[in-house]
Amino acid sequence: MGYKVAVLGATGNVGREILSILAERGFPADEVVALASRKSQGVEVSYGDKTLKVKALETYDFSDTDICLMSAGGSVSKEWSPKIGAQGCVVIDNSSQWRMDPDVPLIVPEVNADDIVGFTKKNIIANPNCSTAQLVVALKPLHEAATIKRVVVSTYQSVSGAGKDAMDELFTQTRAIFVSDPVEPKKFPKRIAFNLIPQIDVFLDDGSTKEEWKMVAETKKILDPKIKLTATCVRVPVFISHSEAVNVEFEKELSAEDARKILREAPGILVIDTREPGGYATPHEAAGEDATYISRLRDDPTVENGINFWCVSDNLRKGAALNAVQIAEVLVNRKLITARSKAA
Ligand SMILES: NC(=O)c1ccc[n+]([C@@H]2O[C@H](COP(=O)([O-])OP(=O)(O)OC[C@H]3O[C@@H](n4cnc5c(N)ncnc54)[C@H](OP(=O)(O)O)[C@@H]3O)[C@@H](O)[C@H]2O)c1
Repeated sequence: MGYKVAVLGATGNVGREILSILAERGFPADEVVALASRKSQGVEVSYGDKTLKVKALETYDFSDTDICLMSAGGSVSKEWSPKIGAQGCVVIDNSSQWRMDPDVPLIVPEVNADDIVGFTKKNIIANPNCSTAQLVVALKPLHEAATIKRVVVSTYQSVSGAGKDAMDELFTQTRAIFVSDPVEPKKFPKRIAFNLIPQIDVFLDDGSTKEEWKMVAETKKILDPKIKLTATCVRVPVFISHSEAVNVEFEKELSAEDARKILREAPGILVIDTREPGGYATPHEAAGEDATYISRLRDDPTVENGINFWCVSDNLRKGAALNAVQIAEVLVNRKLITARSKAA
């Protein structure tokens, strides 16, 4: 007998991806329930070759559900995660609501799966921000080899990172420009079609944005509080996959050639780096894939032990849905939860 799994936010970008990844990876679920807001009640979503009818969160009873994979935003998570956790159902949350809570593990399975043990304090496990997830997958093996001192990262983040309405906005604006209709920004602060926006999330007092702060704080929590990191996060008119230009400075000697060998062996990573036109990964190729792609590895001659690289990954998969399902797999494979129907 397997587990009863609820996917909350099942009509959204991340929720739909979670359903397809659960089916693809053969997650041991006896029953999968799709949940969203009341307005989506009865809407059909795909789970492998099956169709599920969406139920409303408000009227759903979690008392015999083992895992809730949640991607319904921060305010829903703030209200519902403690209630669901208190009913004995483990919440794996995609929002930023619980990530920095000391009683909530923040997990990227390739990096810090062992930290998961603390989840029983609240029955909540947090998934990191999409741009942090792919970055720490790449940094972890390099940190083990040569101890990272400082990271400078610039991101090129796709619109799907801001939800399904944001994808619609890029599509609608692009079409409007072609037919000379007026372009009206709604979800984004400025036009996103044929443009770039150097702001993701709100501004903080020091002039950085909350997205940039999340990358700093989450990298420290997941990987090592001693790592210094500075980020500039930019939204780009790409539908799926986030890209990052990364500069890393190490305590010990590590060349780009050493890094290439290490990253080739590292879990979750695919190195595509042939130093010829097209010999690198782009967001288009990463979309729909599980790997974090590394390209453009080269030494940085301006510092003692430094390298540069390009990192691309599907933000809806490794940045959210895949990572959440991998966390659920850690719970199952390490026997940290028992199916409640089994226990009964
Ligand atoms: N997209 C990414 O790359 C990414 C990466 C990491 C984390 N995240 C996080 O994941 C979460 C979801 O993102 P998304 O991109 O999937 O957003 P989205 O496409 O806008 O989907 C939001 C989902 O939440 C549901 N929802 C909203 N309010 C609800 C309520 N009151 N009760 C029940 N369900 C409710 C929506 O249901 P209805 O359709 O019924 O409104 C929908 O299924 C956010 O917290 C986001 O920050 C996203």
